[in-house]
Amino acid sequence: MDNIKKIWYRTFQFGLNIGSRALYWRKPKLISGAGSRKEIAGLFKARGINRVMVVTGRHVGKSIAPEIMESMKRAGIDCVHYSKVEANPSTTTVHEIEKLYREKDCRGFLAIGGGSPMDAAKAAAALVAKPGKSLNDMAGLFKVLKRLPFFVAVPTTAGTGSETTIAAVITDAETHHKYAIMDLSLIPRCAVMDPELTRDLPQKTTATTGMDALTHAVEAFLCWTNRTAEVDSFALESTAAIFKYLERAYADGGDMEAREELLNASFKAGFAFTRAGVGNVHAIAHTLGGLYGTPHGLANAVILPIVLEDYGEKVYPRLAKLCEAAGLGVEGSDEEKARAFIKEIYAMNARMGIPRGIDSIEEKDIAQMVKWALAEANPTYPVPVVYTEKRCAQVIRRIKEMAH
Ligand SMILES: [Fe+2]
Repeated sequence: MDNIKKIWYRTFQFGLNIGSRALYWRKPKLISGAGSRKEIAGLFKARGINRVMVVTGRHVGKSIAPEIMESMKRAGIDCVHYSKVEANPSTTTVHEIEKLYREKDCRGFLAIGGGSPMDAAKAAAALVAKPGKSLNDMAGLFKVLKRLPFFVAVPTTAGTGSETTIAAVITDAETHHKYAIMDLSLIPRCAVMDPELTRDLPQKTTATTGMDALTHAVEAFLCWTNRTAEVDSFALESTAAIFKYLERAYADGGDMEAREELLNASFKAGFAFTRAGVGNVHAIAHTLGGLYGTPHGLANAVILPIVLEDYGEKVYPRLAKLCEAAGLGVEGSDEEKARAFIKEIYAMNARMGIPRGIDSIEEKDIAQMVKWALAEANPTYPVPVVYTEKRCAQVIRRIKEMAH
């Protein structure tokens, strides 16, 4: 049975690869560099938009958003501010944003923050574009198929890549199932990458979001199909940058060179995975986010080396290339390089205070987690190793064991 499923998944992925080459993978218009946030108001103004829905979490709503909204106001643009997006945003939050957008007759979205506010705003924008559809109807690949209202994404973490991806990941308020809406129309129109906005990120968030970006690069690079030359080079470049700059930014949040390089790396890793796919690390991480509220970056940081170890020799040649890109200076066989790469991920995690395992996993939830993770990964992600239920459960148990 598992073999038949595997053949079906591989056939689907082969077909998807051919189909996806015919699509136009647009990138957002990029506005980057220190102070680039000052250009945000002009983006809306140039399109004649005079009322904007600003979506943030609570902290960014008080720290970063006021200055930007002030500049919008000076440009004659009204801002309607929704500032209650939580980590792992729920469908309830998405509906509240959509309702407010309609009530106030807004004409565009400005999402400022990490993945959560960007994804909640993207999902709300999809609802605005498709009035009769529910979020559930749009779950999965290419179910929106309609242009969204003008959308500007302003990342304040360097990790999610949501400013360039086709995905909005949300959590069902009732079932706690975390799922993704994926459509080319969800790629923001503009991404404003101002490193000054990441200066005050807490150390812990710098670390976990940076490891999320690394997970995007690694999982994209390990996809057996769907990769283009650009995906491979973006994945290698972002891996190199994360190994070089993440711990610098962790040690000194004010290191603007490191902050800027990490934003670029996050963007490239975001493009790589939105084009090629992620994999089992993300599929499992999402179940932890949905059930226990584990921050996405933290879950990925912990799970990444565990899954890479589990993949074994199947991924040695690709991991060897990542090891070279990371500049680890290891000589030897592919296996030696691959093992060194995994070892260095554990070491980076340890140096940045990221635990080796996650204790909150409960045995009673594992069957559900396996179900969700396999349903997310297959057949959509061109994973290098298709997990059986048994193997997936073993990996999840290992994530818990590693905490002890
Ligand atoms: Fe991610």
